Parts: sequence; C-alpha cells; structure tokens
Amino acid sequence: MKPVSENPSAAAQSPPWTGPVATSERAVPLDLPGFLTRERHRIHLVGVAGSGMSGIAALLIELGHTVSGSDKVGTLETDRLRRLGLRFSEQHRPEAADGADLIVFSSAIKSDNPILVSARNGGKPTARRAEALAAIMRHKHGVLIAGMHGKTTTSAMTALVLREGGLHPSHYVGAEIPILGTNAHWDSRGEYFVAEGDESDGTIALFRPEHTLILNIEEEHLDFYADLAAIEKVFAQLITQTTGKVFYNIDDKNAAQVGRSLTRGISYGFNDNADYRALDIRLRNFGSTFRVSHRAKELGEAVLNVPGQHNVHNALGVIALASELGVGFEKIARSLATFEHARRRFEIKYDSPRFLLVDDYGHHPTEIRATLGTARFIGRKRVLTMFQPHRYSRTKALRTEFGRAFDDADRVVVTDVYPSNEAPIPGVTGQMIVDEIAAHGHRGASYEARLERLHRVVGNMLESGDLVLSLGAGNIHEQLSALAADLVIAEKLKQIVGEDGEIRLYEPLSKHTTLRVGGPAQFWVEPRSENTFAELIRFCRDEHLPLFVMGRGSNLLIRDGGIRGVVIHPCGGDFDKVEINGAEITAGVGAKLKEVAYAGKAAGIGGLEWMEGIPGAVGGSLRMNAGAMGAQTFENVVRVRYLDASGEAHTKKRDELEVYYRNFPLLEKNFAVSAVFCGKPAPVEEIVRKLEASQHKRRTSQPAAKSAGCIFKNPDSCPAGKLIDELGLKNSRVGKARVSEVHGNFIVNDGGATATEMLELIQNIRATAFARRGIELETEVQIVGEPG
Ligand code: EPU
Repeated sequence: MKPVSENPSAAAQSPPWTGPVATSERAVPLDLPGFLTRERHRIHLVGVAGSGMSGIAALLIELGHTVSGSDKVGTLETDRLRRLGLRFSEQHRPEAADGADLIVFSSAIKSDNPILVSARNGGKPTARRAEALAAIMRHKHGVLIAGMHGKTTTSAMTALVLREGGLHPSHYVGAEIPILGTNAHWDSRGEYFVAEGDESDGTIALFRPEHTLILNIEEEHLDFYADLAAIEKVFAQLITQTTGKVFYNIDDKNAAQVGRSLTRGISYGFNDNADYRALDIRLRNFGSTFRVSHRAKELGEAVLNVPGQHNVHNALGVIALASELGVGFEKIARSLATFEHARRRFEIKYDSPRFLLVDDYGHHPTEIRATLGTARFIGRKRVLTMFQPHRYSRTKALRTEFGRAFDDADRVVVTDVYPSNEAPIPGVTGQMIVDEIAAHGHRGASYEARLERLHRVVGNMLESGDLVLSLGAGNIHEQLSALAADLVIAEKLKQIVGEDGEIRLYEPLSKHTTLRVGGPAQFWVEPRSENTFAELIRFCRDEHLPLFVMGRGSNLLIRDGGIRGVVIHPCGGDFDKVEINGAEITAGVGAKLKEVAYAGKAAGIGGLEWMEGIPGAVGGSLRMNAGAMGAQTFENVVRVRYLDASGEAHTKKRDELEVYYRNFPLLEKNFAVSAVFCGKPAPVEEIVRKLEASQHKRRTSQPAAKSAGCIFKNPDSCPAGKLIDELGLKNSRVGKARVSEVHGNFIVNDGGATATEMLELIQNIRATAFARRGIELETEVQIVGEPG
C-alpha cells in the first residue's frame, strides 16, 4: 500500500483527490473531498487518540460518517468521541476496520501496523491525516495557519475571532482549546474553515487554501527536511496553491523573505513597513496591551490576556486576517480580549503568592527562549525549569541551539527524550542537552533520567517566590501536575506550621538518617510546638494522608522509594527543651538522649550515663525503648506526654505503661511529645566516670562510620554481634553496604549505599544465621517506606 501521496511535491503536481489513488495492489478511484464532504461512508482512523487525529474523527462524525478508530490507549478525548458515536478499539486489530471504506492514519503510525497491512493486502484506500484534512477543507474557504511556532494559539484565536464576528467558521486545531469547546468543529452554516497546518512532514503542501497566514519559518523537523531551503520550498509551494491572500509576519526574516514579493501579500508586525502594525506595546505579567494601525490609519487598542511578545505577533496576524475578511476592529479586539490559552500554552497550573507553576508545550529552542523570556518577565524570584526533549532527531540536530536556549532559567532539570514515533539514536539522551547547556556556561543544569522522579527533584529545590516551568511536547506536564497537587497540600501544611515551622517537598531522607540511606519524604514537616503537632495530626486524619513521625533517624532504615504522605520531624521550640526540676529531667522528643545524660551530670543525677551512648533523640528512644550498657530507657522514665490519633494530649505515669524489650507499643498509634526522666542523686565524679566508661565502650566496640546502630535484636542464646562475628560475616558486603569490621551487629554505609543493598545484606545475614545456627535474627532497626 502506498499512501495517497508520498511526498508533497508529487502531491502538488497531481492533487491526490482528483485522480485515482495509487496503491501497490491496484488503483482505487477516489475523489477525496467529495467522498469526505458530500457522501456518507464508513471510515476507520488508525491512531485516533492523537491530538490531531481526534480532531479529524470529530469532523468526520459531524459530517455524518460512521467512524471507528483504534489506538493503543484510550484517552479522555476518545471517551468524548465515543459519546459522539466513535466506535473505539483499544488495539490495532484489522477486524476493527473490516467494514471501512477508507482508512485514515496518523503520521505516528508505522507501515507495519496490522490495520494498514490488512488494508494494503485488501487494496483498501488509505489517506494520511493531512490529506483527509486538506480534502475536508476544500469544501469551504480554507484559512490555513502555518509556521513553526504559535500555530495552535493563532488558529484558535482566528477561529474565535471569526466566530465572534458572526462568520460561523469550522475549525481544526492541534490541541484542546477550552474557549472553543473542542479541537475541531464542522459548522455547516459558515463559509470558512480555519485549520492549523502541520509542516513537520511536508504534508502542508497538500493544502489549497483560500488564505494562508505564515507566522514564522525556521529550521525545524530536520528528521524530514534536509535544510532550511527545503522548508522554504514547501512554504513557497503552499503560497502558489493559496488562491487568496497571504498574511506574513514581517519581523520574521524567513517569513518576510517568502511574503515580500507577493502582490497579494499582507504583512503584519512591529516594523514601520508592516501593513498591520502594533505600536506602543506594553507587556504585562499575563498579557499585553498595544495599539494597532492599518497602513497610516489607527484602528484602536487591543488587549491580550495571554502573555509574551510572541502572542502580540500572533494576535496581529489574526487582526490582519479578520480585518481583511470584513470583521470590524472593535469586534476583533473584544474577542481577542476574551481569548484564553490553549492547553499547554503557558498554562497556569498553580498560582499562589509563594509559587507559580506553568506548563508549556515549547520544544524547539526558539519556543523555549520565548517562553522562558515570558517566565522571566513575570518577575518571580527564580525560574526553575523541567525539560523533556522531544524526538531523538530534533535533540541531536539542534543540540547546540538547545544549549543556548535556557539562559533565562535559574535551574534546568532535563529528563530523557520523549521518542514520539522514533527509535532511539545511540548516545542521544537528556544528558546531551545538559552537557550543551553546561558547555554554554550555564551552571544550573542537571539530568534526571527517570521522568517520574522529575517533580520530586524540582519540588525539593523550591523556595518561596519560585516560578516552575515544565517544557516539552511529550508527557512532562504530568510531572508538573503532580507537583501542583502536592503543592496544594504543602501550602496547607505551611499554614499550619506558620512562619516558625518548616515544610519541604520530597526532602531526601538520607539527609536525616544516621545511615545516610532513604528516599524522599513526600511532605517533610517540622512543627515547633505541641499545638502545631496536634493540628498536623488532625489534618492528616481529615485528608487521609499517611503520617510518620521521625526523630534523628538513628535507628531507621528507609527504603529507596521514600515515605508517602507526611513525615513529621518535631524539632526546635518546645521539642528541643531539656529542663531540670529537682531530681527530674523533662525533655522534649526532639532533644538528643545524650543531652539528658549531660543534664543529669549538671544536676548531680546519676543512672542516666548510659544515654550518652545512644545517638538518637528522646522520641526515638521512647518508641524503641532503646538501651545500652545493660540499661534501657523506661528504667528512667517517670511520665510520658503524648498526643493521640485525634491530636488530644495525655500524660501517663510509668506504672500505667506497657513496655517490652526494644518496644513501647503505645507509640504505634500515638505520638510522644515529651518525657520526664529520673535517676538517683550521685556525686559528679561518679557520673563523670560512668559517662567516660560509656564513651570508652562505644568508641572501642562500635564503628564510627555511618550506621543505624545495632541492626538485630539480641537473640536469647547469644548477642547478635557475637553471632555474626562467629559466622565470619564481618566485612561481607552488598554494594556499598558492609558488615562493620568493628562490631558484627552494625552495617555501615561506605558511601552512597542504597536501602536495597542494605536489605539484601540483612537478608544474607539472616539466612546464614538460620542455616548454620538455626537462629532467627529479628531486626531491631525499623524498616519503613516504599521500594525504590
Ligand atoms: N561481640 C563480638 N563480636 C562483635 C560484637 C560483639 O564478639 O563483633 C561480643 C562482645 O565482645 C560482647 C557481646 O558480643 O561480649 C555483646 O556486645 P556489646 O557489648 O557490644 O553489646 P551488644 O549487645 O552488641 C548492646 C546494644 C547496643 C549498645 C551496647 C552497649 C542491643 C541490640 N544492642 O549491644 O545498642 O550500644 O549494648 O551497651 O541491645 C543499639 O541499640 O542500636 C545499640 C547499638
């Protein structure tokens, strides 16, 4: 099977719908415009979920055809089309297209697609998306919007302005346009058809519009075109096929080049010589105001509610076109002022005094520069950008230009290439762009290969006042949406903790564990008072957010996927206080256990010296009933104050509490706030001696390297450290996780170890202990979080 036409120049010589359709099997006579607009048929669309194809489906349904479509995945758009009558199959099976008289296929569909193969074998006619569109358009006065950047916005603006001008235009634009209702619509009442022409594969030369609007011409789509000259040739051909006027942007060198010599050319721009000219341009944060003149005549003022200078150009093209079609300037200006952005064109996803999140489809260096210029102009403190390159061929061809496109961004995080329909090119990854940005002298670029992690990387950089921009034509916007959803919660948490407290998104927990291992916390929250802590507990309960409380992370092994929900780290304020009242010491859960020992020394209270050897905070030692030197926490506890699952505060005395070896079950569902400790009056020299003994024991028998303390509980039969030592497992390792040579019950992080490595090593030890000694080692260290 051969598509109706394989290349644009062939199409120009012999328009596809006027003659027989060539297939490798046989010729099928088909007058495509008549077939699509005057007759009723059964038509199948391959790749119907694509933004361009779904528009064709909508038009064909409105034209009265029986339409079926297939795609590898359904979308909201295919759901909407189903409600209009599309028969959708979520798989490309030939049977789905059995009864079809014509197959229309997306340019993303490969020639070995089963439906296309079956059509080829059956000699069934096929047409490319652009051919179908061009044919439908022939039924009306076509208005084609062409150019490398701004097509969707400008074609949507045109459709809106003509609609408000009472012309009942039909339209086809390449994205969902909320203000237009749908991305495509057939209005039998009107004469005009406004369409966005896609130049990426040369099919733009299939169109024979009445009017053409050329926004800009630049080197792009070098997977298809040899060079700029080849692109210009296609545009020149489009112009010869345009029967009416050609509107062109005089400020774009290449567009001006092709438009200048035309007698039916109408120019627009900022240049003195433009037929339609913008003057006195005032850019605002999310829009602009400018005056418009036609030759020497002042038309009036236009207000735009879409940002950036490039949109002034786009609107000016629309003003020129609509004016020439007879719409009065006042009407044009009124509808332009109501124009809202197409989805993914500087779309504001989140806006608060602290943060602004914007998504944009920009994927060519020129678009990226323009969008970043707009973002910078808005005047937030910093611009953080996440970028997903689109197509290997473009990434490779324009790598140097990409390197220079991010000057207006403070930070750029680049992920891997969105392939579209391309096979990978070896060596072409997001890293290539990062290298180019760095080579250009920008110091803020980094690479994150895994797309699903991008929102976390950028989210963790966030500071109040930042603007975050997601850029790319693939699926990067989903990452910005994920960030926006989390920011909504983060901002509520911020309100609860107030100025004093701290909230961070996706905080790496490896920074907060003594083992230096652990993925991120979705929400890291530091309250400074008991009331705030209580309010946080209630908030998490009401919002169904998982809650985890973490102290100094000395006895924790957090998995590499981090912790979902809210991680509360009570520290500072009330939580760090250590107060001596006679023979009692009251300490907040954020205080180090060591400090209790030293407070004891200061007050002449003995029996707390062992606490010197515990690296954790009071909260953790309560939770675990931590111990050392033969003593354990609850031997010294008098009272515990805690918050219950509703945030209510309670104080319980020691004899009311159930406590076990390395376990205090009350804190499984409740949250300690403070504890009162007691010891026995003792001479300071004796306390000092015991403190030194503890220090000596720790320094001589335990490693100084990064660890989580003892990994296993001591089994009854033998201390775990001794057992592991006897099993000869010291220094055994998995990656950077290693059993300490100093003490067998410690696993140390030799630098950059992962939780996965730690867990594997733990498993190895347990398996060996069981196999060789029949002992089931139980972990003392708390293991939490999601797998990486
Ligand atoms: N031993 C070996 N080889 C080793 C390690 C230890 O033969 O590699 C022997 C020691 O010589 C000693 C016995 O095993 O005879 C017990 O060792 P240690 O005195 O170091 O005490 P432990 O039971 O291993 C406990 C706590 C530690 C605390 C120390 C010091 C547990 C699970 N561990 O260790 O607590 O610091 O006593 O008092 O109860 C922790 O909980 O995270 C922790 C480190």
